[in-house]
Amino acid sequence: MLVKGTGCYVTDQHGREYLDASSPNLTCGYAVPEVAHAVGEQASRMHGYDLSVASHDTAGALAERVAGLMPADLSRTLLTNSGTEAVEAALLIAGMYAGLRGDPRTRVVTFATGYHGSTVLARSLSGLAHLDHPFHQPMPVTRVTLPSPAREMRSPEALDMLLAAFRAALAGDGQEPPLAVVVEPLINVGGGVVLPPGFLSGLRRLCDEYGALLILDEVSTGYGRTGRMFAFEHEGVVADIVVTSKGLAGGYAPISAVSVRESIYTAFGRDPFVGGLRFGQTTSGHGIACAAALATLDLLVRDDLAGRAQRLGEVLMDALRELAGTRGVADVRGMGLFVSLEFEDETTAVAVVTAAQQRGLLLRRQGAVVMAVPPLTIDETTLDLLVERIRSAVREVAA
Ligand SMILES: Cc1ncc(COP(=O)(O)O)c(C=O)c1O
Repeated sequence: MLVKGTGCYVTDQHGREYLDASSPNLTCGYAVPEVAHAVGEQASRMHGYDLSVASHDTAGALAERVAGLMPADLSRTLLTNSGTEAVEAALLIAGMYAGLRGDPRTRVVTFATGYHGSTVLARSLSGLAHLDHPFHQPMPVTRVTLPSPAREMRSPEALDMLLAAFRAALAGDGQEPPLAVVVEPLINVGGGVVLPPGFLSGLRRLCDEYGALLILDEVSTGYGRTGRMFAFEHEGVVADIVVTSKGLAGGYAPISAVSVRESIYTAFGRDPFVGGLRFGQTTSGHGIACAAALATLDLLVRDDLAGRAQRLGEVLMDALRELAGTRGVADVRGMGLFVSLEFEDETTAVAVVTAAQQRGLLLRRQGAVVMAVPPLTIDETTLDLLVERIRSAVREVAA
């Protein structure tokens, strides 16, 4: 039970302090005065307003700020409350847009091990066993299985195999033409999988060839985490829709964003029934969440936290690569400050997370993969401590 957070550290109810490297939410750490002040100021001025009734200046400012960070054509931003809702909105927008264009389609292509959220629609995208549900599939989904084990996915050979698999999925073997491809640039819940360089640009070409929209789920990778403001910047790819959340408000408030091309927005504006690009809940684009996001983005840009993630991520990777030969360690991989250690089995991974916790370090685990995702503001000394605690935990378990 946690009771307090400061910088990169959290404290539990017994007064024990932990270095927190467990969440891609943590853009600038805990109790940052600028963000806390922005939240307080917003609460005392205009805490929020139902955007289906009227907009407010903080939501407008955030929508424009997010658009300003995206490629020029992704000029319109819809604000939602969580990664799941943003994914769901993106799919609805894509499906309705296809109808508005007079080319109705519903089939979606995804990774079998992708994760896009917790509602029925979002779970229906994924092939991960624990996301199965008792309802009908809301739309046809063609899932691409990784052609090689995750640890072999960074090679040029993997790129060819992966693109061939997506081509076959898009072609669909007698199924309806594809509406969209939805992928994470780095597969998070499905095992911290780093995809081969060239994958996103190859996928962009395939989407164009098959007339499918490219929807990038940057919920866990957006806002500096992988060493660029967005992971798609590593390849200069322009998607049709980009979904972001976690890092946007640094975990200070629930918020997410759906960035769409101007042409998609315009198509909705022309339809007299739909009447604009609308999707949301009463609290979507909540004033306090928008204020937290604007303050977080100010810090991200002011302190070049994406550049920092790139630089410190390399230091972290270099240090952890030394563990590659250790008993039980199957792979060390990562992008920016999203670093994963894959173990030979889940039991070892659980033991490492427990040993790390005993050393005052919180890590994230998905199956046999343990992830270190510290705040982007982590300093060099704290990063050394992070490395030391991981090494010590891994070596204890190996011994
Ligand atoms: C890539 C990705 N998409 C979507 C989601 C869902 O986001 P949320 O939990 O905010 O609904 C997550 C959450 O982990 C995620 O990692």
